[in-house]
Amino acid sequence: MKLIFLGPPGAGKGTQSESICRDFGIVQLSTGDILRANRKAGTELGQKAQKYMDAGELVPDQLIIDMIKEELKKPELSKGYILDGFPRTVNQAESLDKLLTEMGQKLDTVLVLEVPNEELLKRLTARRVCKICGKSYHLLYKKPQEDGICDPPCGGELYQRDDDKEGPILNRLKVYEAQTFPLIEYYDKKNMTSKINGLGEIGDIYSRIKSVLEKL
Ligand code: AP5
Repeated sequence: MKLIFLGPPGAGKGTQSESICRDFGIVQLSTGDILRANRKAGTELGQKAQKYMDAGELVPDQLIIDMIKEELKKPELSKGYILDGFPRTVNQAESLDKLLTEMGQKLDTVLVLEVPNEELLKRLTARRVCKICGKSYHLLYKKPQEDGICDPPCGGELYQRDDDKEGPILNRLKVYEAQTFPLIEYYDKKNMTSKINGLGEIGDIYSRIKSVLEKL
């Protein structure tokens, strides 16, 4: 199964991808996670991406497209994958179309997680992420077993992402509206979207997603 996960910052793409990967035996490819890992490792890509990410701006298309080309070649993706956070611009979507044609691959669907802005702000300002495994928690809605610590077996320290402060969040929402929201129409025209109501309990939202995926 090959999927794209579209949705605004904080919609729950990362949270829901965890369950999708567990139940459908596929791999999550999150461009945000890959960029953060590059920053942590101090690579050239990570250094170039830093200023854009901290301001809530998109990293330039060409850097992302080159990165994805390499990622899609990895053997672990042969079981199937969910692209979380990519594509994010029409230019990225067109490059992905070309790449998939070259690789002889076809996407099964584009999941679109719909959540209103006021809820996104509540979710993002109280998100905490594990420094080691990247798993995300919420101070109210998805608490770790022990404050500030990732659940076993990881045990990593939880932190607040620099772009999860109010200023960068508001910018990320604007950037989403301007540059990523048009992709819904792009994939609607290709009859590829599956729209999911992203409001409610995490488990209830997953049931909606699962019933869509089971029909593919
Ligand atoms: P990225 O890491 O992709 O961030 P994002 O798209 O802004 O998405 P998030 O990870 O913030 O949200 P999510 O939908 O995964 O939500 P989550 O499940 O964690 O990108 C970061 C930056 O990298 C970008 O700004 C850009 O600079 C750069 N970048 C990445 N990809 C790029 C690309 N393709 N091109 C250019 N630049 C790129 O949930 C959020 C919180 O809500 C959590 O605390 C969670 O516990 C909680 N939550 C989840 N579901 C629920 C629920 N149902 N009820 C209550 N709380 C919930």
